[in-house]
Amino acid sequence: MRTQVAIIGAGPAGLLLSHLLHLKGIESVVLESRSREEIEATIRAGVLEQGTMDILTEAGVGERMKREGALHHGIELSFGGRRHRIDLSELTGKAITVYAQHEVIKDLVAARLAAQGSILFGVSEVSPQDIDTDNPSVSFLHAGEKHMLRADFVAGCDGFHGVSRPAVPESVRQDYQRIYPFGWFGILVESAPSSDELIYVQHERGFALVSTRSPTVQRLYFQCDPKDSVDNWSDDRIWNELHTRLENSDGWRVKEGKIFQKGIIGMRSFVSTPMQHGRLFLAGDAAHIVPPTGAKGMNLAVGDVKLLSRAIEAFYRKSSGELLAAYTDHALKRVWRAEYFSWWMTSMLHTFADASPFQQQLQRAELENVVNSRALSTALAENYVGAF
Ligand code: FAD
Ligand code: DHB
Repeated sequence: MRTQVAIIGAGPAGLLLSHLLHLKGIESVVLESRSREEIEATIRAGVLEQGTMDILTEAGVGERMKREGALHHGIELSFGGRRHRIDLSELTGKAITVYAQHEVIKDLVAARLAAQGSILFGVSEVSPQDIDTDNPSVSFLHAGEKHMLRADFVAGCDGFHGVSRPAVPESVRQDYQRIYPFGWFGILVESAPSSDELIYVQHERGFALVSTRSPTVQRLYFQCDPKDSVDNWSDDRIWNELHTRLENSDGWRVKEGKIFQKGIIGMRSFVSTPMQHGRLFLAGDAAHIVPPTGAKGMNLAVGDVKLLSRAIEAFYRKSSGELLAAYTDHALKRVWRAEYFSWWMTSMLHTFADASPFQQQLQRAELENVVNSRALSTALAENYVGAF
């Protein structure tokens, strides 16, 4: 088996890379360990930056997102019993769209298959080989048979737990990491949205977030112990916690409904550098992770593959390896800014068990500064919509 670019992983990074390369006449094969049904049903991100919407639209896969996604012009920050609106559009001229990641996945899979693109689902024992030569390959098992996919390049788009990052030798790799002492409990609820815009809540019992998915489904999160189990949380206990954290004296109430999905995610900041070694290039969560508070993860994955697809195109069209050589430097500039923003939002909005009373007062003062200073509100808004 031979192709131009062997792509490991059919998440947003791998599928979009395959599609962008196809639009430039470059062939790829995507190897995915899970089934199509699984990747199309995994509940994850929801917030798309303007730049992400633009790329999906330009690539011809934005039609359903435009129709079914909800354009949001602001977000709210809630603390000290009051809500404060950050007007994203007024401050930056841009907006965000709430459209579930698995819907983006469905749109990309449909586009790849409509163009006779090759995605192999349910592969195992995936292993990048000879990446420091001009003839790399990927070995894998599919339908019980061993295969070797030869390529010019290997793109590691296999998420944080994939096999691609470990293929970069430890001697050349530097990892930066912070693990947070809390997680997010996420639920999907059958009900109309409680709010037209996302509400990020700082509360002494912990962070909470009101988001949406559609006119009939809400997405809600609250800070929890990352080692907790969903079995410890009855629906009643969840609603009590959400009412306590989300509501104040203004009469607004979070809408209850049937909870049809529950899950706990851990939170970390992580960057691995370099994002390339020989003919292997990492993109998305394979190279970096952000805590979800800034809603940046999927957007970063999209940003990486935009750069990578251009660099690969330059290699084939102009025989130039310049953009490929600069890939890590170009990608990491944006990645570190998003790492900073996600860490900042996380620190400002979560409850830290070991925070001294002094630190708690500083946290409140920082929130007051952000909502009362146009300069600081603008900085938050620019980072949130991805204005750079
Ligand atoms: P992934 O989506 O992890 O895809 C990797 C793929 O590779 C998977 O399909 C996996 O099955 C496959 N794979 C793994 N190992 C192998 C292997 N060995 N061989 C073959 N295939 C393999 N981001 C945002 O931008 N906005 C948000 O609002 C947001 N909210 C989030 C909320 C939650 C609850 C979570 C968990 C994440 C959120 N994120 C958000 C982050 C976002 O979901 C990720 O950053 C994004 O999925 C990264 O895409 P990716 O393609 O790099 O990796
Ligand atoms: C969602 C997830 C996030 O991480 C975030 O910051 C905002 C919204 C969501 O899943 O809707």
